Amino acid sequence: MTKPIVFSGIQPSGDFHLGNYLGAVKNWVARQDDKTNYFCIVDMHAITVPQDPVQLRIKTRELAAILLACGIDPDKSTLFIQSHVRAHAECCWLLNCITPLGWLHRMTQFKDKSNRQESVLTGLLDYPVLQAGDIMLYDANEVPVGEDQKQHIELTRDIGQSFNARYEEPFFTLPKVMLPETGARVMGLDNPTNKMSKSFSHIRGHLVKLLDEPKEILRSFKKAQTDSGNEIMFSDDPEKAGVNNLLDIYVAVTEKSKEEALADFANARGYGDLKVGVANAVIETLTPIRERYNELMSDPAELDRQMARGAEQARAVADPKVTHMKEIMGLVLPS
Ligand code: AMP
Ligand code: TRP
Repeated sequence: MTKPIVFSGIQPSGDFHLGNYLGAVKNWVARQDDKTNYFCIVDMHAITVPQDPVQLRIKTRELAAILLACGIDPDKSTLFIQSHVRAHAECCWLLNCITPLGWLHRMTQFKDKSNRQESVLTGLLDYPVLQAGDIMLYDANEVPVGEDQKQHIELTRDIGQSFNARYEEPFFTLPKVMLPETGARVMGLDNPTNKMSKSFSHIRGHLVKLLDEPKEILRSFKKAQTDSGNEIMFSDDPEKAGVNNLLDIYVAVTEKSKEEALADFANARGYGDLKVGVANAVIETLTPIRERYNELMSDPAELDRQMARGAEQARAVADPKVTHMKEIMGLVLPS
């Protein structure tokens, strides 16, 4: 039986945090054997908003090292940098020429992001078309992303369907969005009603960064917002959101059941013990990742070789696909 093809993209925006790991990358790592995986560091998406060139280059390499350190295995998955594979930009252009402008103006992420900026770049509007190309170049069946990306995957299907109807059925595989299972939604430590997000990275005590030192992790958890009670329990009550978030994080990092988690804290003398217990479990999970990251970053040539290898594997699929697209759209191929 052929394995499902998975494609996911992640922006090199820095501030890679516990939510990104528990909500996304940990699942990617766990499913590497059952699927054919493409994991793409989407640097061309990153430049749809202004970036400092020096910082962008640093963050892109850092993200590559983080993903490898988290357990993305280049022998099992194709991990590459988007701009290394020219087919992505070409595919975006070809798809631009069949995508009605109105579809892009309807994207809620574009509306949000463009409202927050004085000058809106063309690339920001076109962002979902680049994303559609990323996915369909590899005939991906599944796209594991967060809720916020659902609309972009639906748009990908619409663009794919429109291309197929116009030129050749079924040229593109229409992808399905795979939302993370519940429990993987990590909330901010400062305010457990907000999802942990790099958009709040300026607020002290909000994020746990994947590369934070143990001291820092302990400090963040000790300051985590809880409630005025003392009951350690899973609960949907907004009042208990802080405690619930701590327990969810504990379950996610230890892979224990809810019952086992509660049993571990049965003798806790209040929220202080809970916070320290969760912090220690997080430290235990993140320490080997941080150590592996430091090793990878100390050998940039090896990191670049890994990225070159991923790009080569990606090109072997994406180049023929984009050539085929050009051919059926009536472009003359070079001899
Ligand atoms: P982002 O940092 O928003 O680009 O997200 C990258 C990936 O991490 C997406 O698949 C998100 O769904 C996931 N993610 C981001 N923040 C969280 C969070 N707080 N909890 C769970 N998953 C998250
Ligand atoms: N837009 C996605 C995000 O911000 C990143 C992304 C780019 C992506 N290309 C993709 C995600 C292809 C999944 C598939 O999270």
